[in-house]
Amino acid sequence: MIKKLPLIFSVSAVLFVGTAIAQTPSLKDVFKKEFLIGTAMNAQQIEGKDTAADRLIKQQFNAVTPENCMKAEIIQPRWDTYNFDLADKLVAFAKKNNIKINAHNLIWHSQLPAFMHHMQSADSVRQYFVNHITKVASRYDGKVYSWDVVNEALNEDGTLRKDIFLDKLGDDYIVEAFRLAQKAAPHTKLYYNDYNIEQPKKRAGAIALIKKIQAAGVRIDGVGIQGHWKAGNVPMADIEESIKEYSALGIEVMFTELDLSVLPNPWDKVTADVSATTEGSAKMNPYTKSLPDSMQQVLAKSYADLFTLFVKYKKDISRVTFWGVDDGQSWLNGFPIRGRTNYPLLFDRNLKPKPAFFRVIATVKK
Ligand code: G3I
Repeated sequence: MIKKLPLIFSVSAVLFVGTAIAQTPSLKDVFKKEFLIGTAMNAQQIEGKDTAADRLIKQQFNAVTPENCMKAEIIQPRWDTYNFDLADKLVAFAKKNNIKINAHNLIWHSQLPAFMHHMQSADSVRQYFVNHITKVASRYDGKVYSWDVVNEALNEDGTLRKDIFLDKLGDDYIVEAFRLAQKAAPHTKLYYNDYNIEQPKKRAGAIALIKKIQAAGVRIDGVGIQGHWKAGNVPMADIEESIKEYSALGIEVMFTELDLSVLPNPWDKVTADVSATTEGSAKMNPYTKSLPDSMQQVLAKSYADLFTLFVKYKKDISRVTFWGVDDGQSWLNGFPIRGRTNYPLLFDRNLKPKPAFFRVIATVKK
């Protein structure tokens, strides 16, 4: 027979846990005069099945980005057949909790619906392109705060990525995507989002893209630098130069998918290109049990340096979004090598704040 704990113990346990959460500083409150603080939300969180993450999201963030549920393969799985269920749940969650949604994304070469994979007819691609942007962006106009209208359209050298949209619609497709989005969603901010666009060559390509959209008299409100970097090797000088150069275009600058990998990278380059994967090995997955304090400190220092820079440029930066709530959610546990244990975010697998969290909080002077 299980011995019942005296009431005093169980009440104090509940109070202890509740107090612990309540005592954790709130990122959105600490940075409320600087910029929005966001997180990516996965399906389980959006459906409210992860109650602990739900509490933490409400306490810590005032912006959210759907990690997957508003991507084309999910929201239009078959031609002209739409599935808005999860996206609608996200809209309801955000409205109830006074959270801004950055919808992600309308046009991207990856996670396209299966029917697009071998589409040959330029007319069919154009019809999909117009229908998808118009139908989805108009449905959520006034319900989401912003859209990543086009995601990852550039190569590392700043040229346009050779994807189905460039191939079938030509190099004006990006301007046309923003033109269609502007028409469908007049009350929604429109962003270009990409990784490594803090790197000089790719940054030059992104700036040319943004200027082309502006020159066409089409609205673009901001640029999202994804921020998939490596702890201990964050390109700080490139990031600072990028903040200056992008904000000089008269648009918002955002860091939209921030995470800092602590694991060895199989190649010498940093990439978030989802098509790049490789086989694993023990030396590539060194922290299966826990992250040594030495690496916790490297992670904390990198985040502290980043947020010190972000606070310095708070008038140019409108949002910083982490690509996940906690280490257990991170895509980096499976990229570029499946089945690894990474520690790239501010909260650990038990949703507890890490040393990096407190270093980030400390970057805002009282
Ligand atoms: O939902 C299915 C599930 O039903 C199935 O059992 C399972 C196994 O096949 O797959 C699940 O879908 C996965 C989905 O994440 C949800 O977990 C997809 O296979 C997987 O490819 C997908 O990965 C996402 C990745 O984009 C691929 O596009 C990651 O969660 C997401 O974090 C990542 O995010 C991207 C941004 O959208 C754009 N910038 C780069 C960033 C990292 O790749």
